[in-house]
This record gives sequence, C-alpha cells and structure tokens, in this order.
Amino acid sequence: MTANDSVMHDRAMKAAQAAKAPSRVALLGFGTVGQAVTRILTSGDVPGLSLTHVFNRDVARKRADWVPASVAWTESIEAVLAADVDIVIELVGGVHPTYEWVRRALESGKSVVTANKQLMAHFGGELLDLARAKGREIRFEASVAGGIPVLRALQEGLAGDRLVEVRGILNGTCAYILSRMQTEGTSFADALKEAQAAGYAEADPTEDVDGADAAAKLAIIVAVGLRRPVRVGAIATRSIRPIEAVDFEYARQLGCTIRQIARASVEEGGKVFAAVRPALVPLNSAFGRVEGSQNVVTVRGVYGGETSFSGSGAGGSPTAVAVVSDVLSVRQSLGGTAGLDAGPAPAVHEVHGDFTAPHYVRFIVNDKPGILAQVTAAYARYGINIDGVLQLPRFRKDRLPFVTTLEECPESMLDKALADVSQSDYHVQPPIALPIFE
Ligand code: NDP
Ligand code: HSE
Repeated sequence: MTANDSVMHDRAMKAAQAAKAPSRVALLGFGTVGQAVTRILTSGDVPGLSLTHVFNRDVARKRADWVPASVAWTESIEAVLAADVDIVIELVGGVHPTYEWVRRALESGKSVVTANKQLMAHFGGELLDLARAKGREIRFEASVAGGIPVLRALQEGLAGDRLVEVRGILNGTCAYILSRMQTEGTSFADALKEAQAAGYAEADPTEDVDGADAAAKLAIIVAVGLRRPVRVGAIATRSIRPIEAVDFEYARQLGCTIRQIARASVEEGGKVFAAVRPALVPLNSAFGRVEGSQNVVTVRGVYGGETSFSGSGAGGSPTAVAVVSDVLSVRQSLGGTAGLDAGPAPAVHEVHGDFTAPHYVRFIVNDKPGILAQVTAAYARYGINIDGVLQLPRFRKDRLPFVTTLEECPESMLDKALADVSQSDYHVQPPIALPIFE
C-alpha cells in the first residue's frame, strides 16, 4: 500500500465510522406527539439515533421515568440551541416562537424535523431556503395527514406527473366528530371532547373545527404537489359547527353523509382554486367511509389520473412514525446509515401462507341424503367450527350448490378437511374455499 493509499484508506474508515455514529437528536415539546416520538426513539427499534435533550416549558412536570437517564430535561431553549445536536425535532406547535427557534436551529447548523403545519404553511418557503443555504434539511411529513406519507409520495412517487387537483379529508378531529355524529348520534360538543381526549385536536381546537388546520395542510400540499405556493390566509374556510343531527338524516336520504373536505385545483391558465368546507359526500365513496381520525387524500395528475392515500391522520403514535421517518431521512442525507444500510443484511426468512381466517366454502354436488353430515363431520375432525350453511332453492338436484361459512381456522386444517370430503363421489366439481377478510 502506498502512503497515498493509506491516507485514502484512513479517510474511508473515518467516514464509515462517522456514518455509523448515532445522530444526536433534541426534542422540543413533550406533548401528545413528542411523547410518542420519545417512545420510538428510546425503544431500540430505530438504531442510529440518540435522543439527547427534551425541552418543554415547566419541564419538571413533564419528566417521565421511562425516559433513559442519559436524556437531559430542560426548559432552556438556549441550552438546546447551543448543544452539539444534529437534528432538532419541533413538536411544540404554533407559529411563534417556533419560527424563531427553527430559524436559529438551522442557522446554527442543525437540521429540523417538524409536524407544525401552521409554521410550514406560513414560513415553509423561507425556512426551506435557509436550510438549503446552510447545507441542512427541514422536513415536515407529519404536518400533513399525520401518519400517511403523502408529501413524500407527491414529491417522489408522483414527481413524473403534473398534478392539477387534490381533494382530501385532512383534519382527523373533524372526521372524528362528524363520523361520531353520523353513526352514534353523539353531540358535537361531546364528540369534540372525545377527540381532544384521544390527542387528535390542536391546542386551540377552533383551528380544527373552523378549518384553519385543514387550510394550512392544503396550502402545503398545493405548494409541494401542485407546485403552486399560495398564501394560507387566502384559502376560504367554513366551519363544521352549524352541522346538526338533522343534516345527517337528510344527507342519508340522498345516499350521502357529511365530511370536512379540503379541495384545490389548478385550472387552465394557471388559476388556483382552494377551499375547506363541510360537504355532502356519497356514503359508499372513499370519503363517505372515513371514520375516526382517518384521513384520505386523492390527487389527480394530467398523465397518471387519480391516486389515493389513506390512513391515520392524527394521534400520537401514527404521527410519531412520520416524524421519526423524517429524522431517519435527514440522517441518511447527512451521510449516516439508517434502515437497511444500518447493519448486516438479515438472513432470508421462511414464508408461511397458512393464515388463520374465517372462510367461505362452496360445494357443487349431485344431491343425495347425508352430504351435509359428512361435510360437518370432516370439519369437526379438524376442530373447525361452522358459522352458517347457505343453500338457495330451485337449483338442479344433479348440480346443487351450497355454501358453508366457517369461523376462524388455519387454511391448512381446512385443506385437510376438504381433502377428506373430496374422496366422496357426490362432487360435481371440487369445492372452493375462500378466506373472508373483514
Ligand atoms: P401538545 O399540545 O400535546 O404538545 C405540545 C407540547 O409543547 C406540550 O408539552 C406543551 O407544554 C409544549 N409547549 C407549548 N408551548 C410551549 C412553549 N411556548 N414553550 C415550551 N413548551 C411549549 O401538541 P401535539 O403533540 O398534539 O402537537 C404538536 C405538533 O404536532 C403541533 O404542531 C400539531 O399541529 C402537530 N400535529 C399533531 C398531531 C396530533 O394528532 N396531535 C398530528 C399531526 C401534527 P404544556 O404541557 O405546558 O402545554
Ligand atoms: N389536529 C389535527 C387533526 C392533528 O385533527 O387532524 C393532525 O394534524
């Protein structure tokens, strides 16, 4: 090895070690999402990240004994900003003072991950420019649609299309309130209290019910997906407060229900439409079926047509997954290893297809007495419980279909029972067994 080779080798070794060294992460805000993020970061499930600080006002109240002793609890933002950390996670919420903190974090060479849709809707362009100028990152996947990785899908998976329309249920609190009013007859006030208790609502829930939260998310999607930055204040909003039980009754008469819908489109000539309001949606549509804190986002592209995304739009754990995934992306972009790169390739695993599920089994037989008795006896031999037997009238007796539905059983047991039954001579064709997925 020449002296030059040796220097190169040393550098490569140091770079490899640096890539494996954990990224130091500080958390601002130990609330619903902050606590869920801390659970993941301290679980051992995501190697490569080391939580160093938890910042919150009146922090003594917040200390939790399940957080490792190595984590520093602080109510001094100065201490966090001065610390040797690579990534700051902002989960405090609100535009101020988070804007000032995030700016300072970026200026001091740290990358930032945030779930704060108001911050990004109002100052996203400026903060992204600052991050670029500093060679750092700011990521905000959790700010839109909670746990659904919709921004990444728009930026990467659909980058090859020209998106012209987005429609979405973007606020989990409204989805929760309206679906509870629809299905349980819960009052607006009680449903809101439930949504707050579940950790879905903003610190000021008027942002949820009056539309500001969904408008901020819509502004972010319009900027990222439709590539048209807009002023969030220019997006018209209407509250869901006037919706009453009677509106669900009338909507049902029309085959519909009511949800808060965020919608934006780019029309010919580049004009942008955007609004958030309660609207009637067909009961059997993707929007009409949304319950609880679910979100749905449908985008339409000039080339690819419609693509939809759905999942948990609010709640600590789903949102925390989006936050931690962003942190891992930042780590990778800073040269660190994460995910599949983080360790040796795992050994290839065996795959089993023997799912346990309820089943539908259809027979076509040449009818004679005792067939059902033989079938049920075979099921009993393998511990399979029958849920129901269906046989419709007026079929030919020499080609008689009937169905058994079965409670949960392993497919392998059912195969054995059907192999026994198949020995008999009354089958016109072999029975078919289909799992019932609920
Ligand atoms: P929480 O209100 O539960 O948590 C916020 C935390 O920040 C609290 O611990 C609060 O302390 C602390 N805090 C607030 N203001 C200050 C301040 N000025 N100085 C220091 N600490 C402060 O909110 P969430 O966890 O629900 O939300 C956090 C962010 O994530 C928000 O931007 C929200 O929009 C976003 N988000 C939330 C989702 C959810 O389902 N909850 C989903 C997606 C995004 P204290 O206990 O004193 O109030
Ligand atoms: N308050 C928000 C909602 C949290 O209800 O959707 C997720 O951004």
